[in-house]
Amino acid sequence: MTHDYVSDIAPRCHDMSPEDFRLHGKLLLEWIANYLEDPRQYPVLARCQPGELQRLLPAAGPEKGESMEAILDDFEELILPRLTLWNHPHFHAYFSISSSAPGILAELLIAALDVNAMLWKSSPAATELEQITVSWVLEWLGLPSAWFGMIVDSASNAVLQAVVAARQRAEPECRAAGSSGRLVAYVSEHTHSSVEKAAIAAGIGQRNVRPIAADAGFRMKPEALAQAIRADLVNNMKPFFAVATVGTTSSTAVDPVAAIADLCREHGLWLHVDGAYGGSFAILPECRHWLDGVEGADSFVVNPHKMMMVPLDCSLFYTAHPALLRSAFSLEAEYLKTDAAGAIDFMDYGLALGRRFRALKLWFVLRFFGRDGLAAILRENLRMAAWLGERIAADARFELAAPATMGLVCFRLRQGEDATRELMRSINASGRFFVSHTVLDSRFTIRAAMGNIRTEQRDVEQLWVAITEALDPPE
Ligand SMILES: Cc1ncc(COP(=O)(O)O)c(C=O)c1O
Repeated sequence: MTHDYVSDIAPRCHDMSPEDFRLHGKLLLEWIANYLEDPRQYPVLARCQPGELQRLLPAAGPEKGESMEAILDDFEELILPRLTLWNHPHFHAYFSISSSAPGILAELLIAALDVNAMLWKSSPAATELEQITVSWVLEWLGLPSAWFGMIVDSASNAVLQAVVAARQRAEPECRAAGSSGRLVAYVSEHTHSSVEKAAIAAGIGQRNVRPIAADAGFRMKPEALAQAIRADLVNNMKPFFAVATVGTTSSTAVDPVAAIADLCREHGLWLHVDGAYGGSFAILPECRHWLDGVEGADSFVVNPHKMMMVPLDCSLFYTAHPALLRSAFSLEAEYLKTDAAGAIDFMDYGLALGRRFRALKLWFVLRFFGRDGLAAILRENLRMAAWLGERIAADARFELAAPATMGLVCFRLRQGEDATRELMRSINASGRFFVSHTVLDSRFTIRAAMGNIRTEQRDVEQLWVAITEALDPPE
């Protein structure tokens, strides 16, 4: 580690000079371009021990400013080898993501301008670009045209907003007095854990989140939901919220949204549809049916930072009830009042006051690829997942744990759990590929997700070789 202090005398109280900025900017862009040209030059998976970096870096921050050269050297030598590289064609764990070049360039501008989209007045074009981009995506996904949309950091915060708005509808007095403790939310066994977290944060209580049984295809059973709602009503509880998922985390199952929406309407529940992962596929006409019934939802989330090539973070939250959302979240602080009549102040619709200019990167990416470009990328990912799924299905040593319909392949060894765990360990051991796991049908299952913009057929073929060689090492 270098300690290349700039000066021993004068503290550095001005920003970097424009000349130095140009110089370092060029070098950094060059570094990024080299990285993007072929990330395969780096292992995807960090192989380091907990605490390792903390031992290598000073425990206290520097008293004096340091040179950019020293900072960048340490980035390359100390930080980079200890990163698991998500923006990498061999990243198949969790859900793969992509920071595409137009998104990266937009992030530069976002940081340079550092505007805050809290109020229309605080940066008019940031607010209006947010309205425009969310309405473009709304149209591409075939969502109801009257829905209100906004950009948030994560699907986790989107569902928190949905829970709070639903709570406002079910118990308007709760905003002032707190919840009655009788509200009940319904999820499936496969719903993402962010919903339970939101219920905890919103004071609904973990005990009041009911996991509803799923069928053999990992889809919520509407009849089990109906039964649970009836049981809660008999017990004087207040069913108020349910989640249907389009593309569950473990297996990309699609809950029967229309049937769940009917039940929610019948009993006055707020239905939130979680399309964080699967929602983007509705851009493809042949996949739009995965969102059938979504028009019966009260809110919906999709993450362009998952399958729409937008860098983390960018999550789109839509609702049919913006007035309720606003009544749940708005507070009149004198210093935030403006005279911009008729304009939207997004801070009134969620928890965050300071809001990054995420619309800019979404706009760059949507314009750069266009709908047909994004559709082509999604189709290619579906194709590669299906290719790997077919290889696995055709090999008697393996079984597919779920159909590889979206960009995810879930598989295990027929030999059993220990062998499957060992297989995953050895696929990941070299650091060349990264796959993750889940449990389906109470059995340990390996997940291999497609979704990085740089993943090509040759990468998936190499992954298949890595899987088979891990089982049967060459002599
Ligand atoms: C189906 C689903 N919903 C919600 C989330 C949470 O997303 P975020 O990380 O944006 O909070 C995930 C994360 O992978 C997910 O798979």
